[in-house]
Amino acid sequence: MAEKKPIVGFSKLNKEDKLKLVASYFEDKDSAMTEMQTFWHSDPQKQKLFDEFSENTISNFYFPFGVAPNMIINGQNYMVPMVIEESSVVAAASSSAKFWSERGGFKAKIISTEKIGQVHFIWKGKTEKLQTHMPAIKEKLIYGTTDITHRMEKRGGGIKDIELIDMTFELENYYQLKVTFETVNSMGANFINSCLEEFTILLKAYFTETDDFKNGEKDCMVIMSILSNYTPNCLVEAWVECPIEKLIQKDIDMNPKAFAWKFEKAVRIAEVDTYRATTHNKGIFNGIDAVALATGNDFRAIEACGHTYASRSGKYRSLTKISVKDGMFKYTLRIPLALGTIGGLTSLHPMAKRSLQLLGNPNAEELMMITAVTGLANNFGAIKSLVTKGIQQGHMKMHLFNILNHYNASEEEKKKASEFFNDKKVSFQSVSEFIKGIRH
Ligand code: MEV
Repeated sequence: MAEKKPIVGFSKLNKEDKLKLVASYFEDKDSAMTEMQTFWHSDPQKQKLFDEFSENTISNFYFPFGVAPNMIINGQNYMVPMVIEESSVVAAASSSAKFWSERGGFKAKIISTEKIGQVHFIWKGKTEKLQTHMPAIKEKLIYGTTDITHRMEKRGGGIKDIELIDMTFELENYYQLKVTFETVNSMGANFINSCLEEFTILLKAYFTETDDFKNGEKDCMVIMSILSNYTPNCLVEAWVECPIEKLIQKDIDMNPKAFAWKFEKAVRIAEVDTYRATTHNKGIFNGIDAVALATGNDFRAIEACGHTYASRSGKYRSLTKISVKDGMFKYTLRIPLALGTIGGLTSLHPMAKRSLQLLGNPNAEELMMITAVTGLANNFGAIKSLVTKGIQQGHMKMHLFNILNHYNASEEEKKKASEFFNDKKVSFQSVSEFIKGIRH
């Protein structure tokens, strides 16, 4: 059984020895080790690439790579790559894509593309003195980072602004330099953090070298310098609209007006109730995270930012807005998405590179629109199901194969089960009974 003593020097072991040690934690050591090895890539060069993405890699963890076809965005047809394990997400996105492709498609626009970084510091002197020195500090910081920024500037990006923020009302002597960046097609984390760490050095130097600051560093202590994942000004809007009477489909078992009314109420509930808003927004992130993962983007950053944005009024609310008036149905998602199409894993991960190729090698703005639309597609699909037949029918149908796999069902058994459950309710119990029945 598991070795419970602290492990020293694990990261220095070679991969095989790491795997052996990890396998010793399982009761079936040998088969655990073999199983993990079966998920190694057959091409050692490709495996090496994955090993080097992260520390202590011993195997790979597979997720399905799927696509949602027919996503019409601003008149262009996309096949959207999605990486997600939840069985009904790609199906919901695809079905919404098809629904809206017959009603004018999705629309999207970029509102802004700014990123933010912060230098957090303590200053014990007078605020006015800092303010007086800000123009000179700003010049030193911008001039002192030109070797980092010149390439970004050539691409149309760089440092846009540096502001002094007085935070002393929250914490004694606490100030920030709030830095605004434009990082064009890269998510920009490395660029921003490199600039900010250089700022730390330059700011300290300014305080030690300037005669006006006799106490030098004693008065100014930089605590940390790091990008902020909250990017409320890196915003995209995606929406759908059509005449209410067009909201008609065979799985909407009510008249279009009643459907629009119920849909609107469901969205309003998510605006005012935090419990519902969380689930509502989770449904949006089903699509957004899946595209972020497929394209090698940082879905944790995107999630963190989206949830903060959802709380910007002081209360956590839904990220969508609805308007049902003058015979028109309009449903909008506005969300900050700091995405990149160059740098990071975007071209390093072979499948992320393929995802971007599948999308026609979009720039970051185009990817923001595609991703937001996919989030809206998933959310629209969820609300449409919730206010009509509920989600379980579709969800459990997609889950049928997971339950069958749990029982190691053969291909023949799966075929029989698909036919049998075509017009019946799927549940763990019903599938279990079905399998037992045919096996007898
Ligand atoms: C499930 O992954 C997502 C939903 O719960 C979202 C929602 O309730 O809006 C269906």
